Amino acid sequence: MHLSDLHFGAGARLEARTAALVEDLVARDVDHVVVTGDVTEHGRHAEFERFCRVFEPLALSRRLTVIPGNHDRLGDDVAELTMGGERVRVERRDGLHLVLVDSTRPNPAFAFVAHGHLGDADLAAVDAALASPDPDSLVCILLHHHPTALPHESWLEALGERVGLPFGRALERGADLLRCAAGRADLVLHGHRHRPRGVWLPGARPLGVFNAGCSPSLGHGREFVHRDGAIVGGPSRWASSERPRRAVSRRAVPA
Ligand SMILES: [Fe+2]
Repeated sequence: MHLSDLHFGAGARLEARTAALVEDLVARDVDHVVVTGDVTEHGRHAEFERFCRVFEPLALSRRLTVIPGNHDRLGDDVAELTMGGERVRVERRDGLHLVLVDSTRPNPAFAFVAHGHLGDADLAAVDAALASPDPDSLVCILLHHHPTALPHESWLEALGERVGLPFGRALERGADLLRCAAGRADLVLHGHRHRPRGVWLPGARPLGVFNAGCSPSLGHGREFVHRDGAIVGGPSRWASSERPRRAVSRRAVPA
């Protein structure tokens, strides 16, 4: 199950939606949940602690993987609490080879430094992480920022682009990341943008690039069913039993 952009600290309604999503996921006995960043709104310890409390049933049973987003770098900088300060790490679970990538910039001066960064060392580490997965595992790369250009979702992003501010842009080395993943990975899962999107890049081993969007605002995540290292059927939108009638809005700041 892929969730993203929870933004604990952005409002009680969003947090209640997330709690309802997690409750349903636990009731469904889902195998594994990945959260692709922006766990918190202001990067505060208190916000991260609330996230931990809600996700505790999944974390205690080792069914949770979390990576940081740009918002987690603000305030107290809680990014280290997700990946321990590593930029790239592999987590192996039954049938899953997860490559966790921290695409955030450390210590951004202010919220508008929201765009991601991948350097040569990061890409080399991803290359190494894809070297020897179990052949029966689904190989997934998890990162916060989008590796391909996506349409603007707010007037702020459009304005930023017009005046040359890069906070709404795709990862500069996103194409390099996808080249590295082609033929060796099955999924690239990300967030940052709050509207869900997905595309399959063709090839002998198709590569799915999926954005979960802002899960609590949408009231749903994306479910991938896999067996013997391959996706079974297509990914499907999974909705919590407590569905919002319309998306719960967040204030317009860089995603
Ligand atoms: Fe973000």
